[in-house]
Amino acid sequence: MASAGTQKSANALARTTSVDEGRQIFLRGCSSCHGINAEGGDIAPSLIGVGAASVDFQVGTGRMPLADMSQQAARKRPLYNPEQVAALAAYVASLAPGPEIPNQVVASYERDGNTAQGGELFRTNCAMCHNFSGQGGALSQGKYAPSLMGSTPAQIYEAMITGPQSMPVFGDKVISPADKLSIIKWIKAAQNEPNLGGASLGRIGPVTEGLLVWTLGLGLLIGIAVWLATKAR
Ligand code: HEC
Ligand code: HEC
Repeated sequence: MASAGTQKSANALARTTSVDEGRQIFLRGCSSCHGINAEGGDIAPSLIGVGAASVDFQVGTGRMPLADMSQQAARKRPLYNPEQVAALAAYVASLAPGPEIPNQVVASYERDGNTAQGGELFRTNCAMCHNFSGQGGALSQGKYAPSLMGSTPAQIYEAMITGPQSMPVFGDKVISPADKLSIIKWIKAAQNEPNLGGASLGRIGPVTEGLLVWTLGLGLLIGIAVWLATKAR
């Protein structure tokens, strides 16, 4: 019992240290936009209640700290190391409850996910923005859905539960946790084998294939017309 108690207080202590450290990093690197207490301001939204998952996604993909306000937050080399990201996440999570970092949940995606089902779900829920092969695509007003070819399993899960910028949130009622793992498994397969999404023609996507079919079809029609014309003579 005594050792369990010691263990518990050691964990609590580690958590407090990490929250304090996170707060220090936050004050230096984030508070100018997000406010001294993460309450939000004129330029940036409040982070109270966004949860550790959102911080892990935004800072872990290098989107935050935001470099250029005029643009969509782009994926770039992360400014902070994994311990600092964890500390920032712990600090924001200490402000109010929110979605947790799904590291444990995604650990079993290889075993519990189903690639074929994931592909099906990807085509119905994600392909309209990210392209059939996950290569990304343009949206309206100069915005874009980025390529998913560099996303880690945790980042894919986090994107679905936090819905960054113009991406919708896919809550567990819309896509169950098990289905999320299948989507992750399909994206990981597509990362290793980019032709998976049917973009085999120079990886430009289904549009090219459609165009090719159209051109071939048109060629055939012209051929038939010429043939008929010759016959009629
Ligand atoms: C130059 C201003 C700026 C700085 C500095 C900045 N942010 Fe942001 N942040 C924004 C803006 C604007 C948004 C909203 C638009 C977006 O999501 O890209 C945002 C969004 C976010 C979100 C998403 C919130 C949500 O609703 O899920 C998180 C999390 C976040 N920032 C964390 C951070 C952290 C942590 C830092 C420090 C390491 C930081 N930001 C530094 C401007 C900034
Ligand atoms: C309406 C368009 C739209 C749909 C639908 C959509 N996304 Fe996104 N997604 C976006 C946009 C826009 C971003 C970039 C947001 C940002 O930069 O803050 C994004 C970002 C992401 C990222 C982060 C990529 C990275 O590593 O930088 C992942 C992963 C992701 N989406 C996965 C998915 C999955 C999986 C689905 C389907 C379940 C999906 N998205 C559906 C628009 C969409």
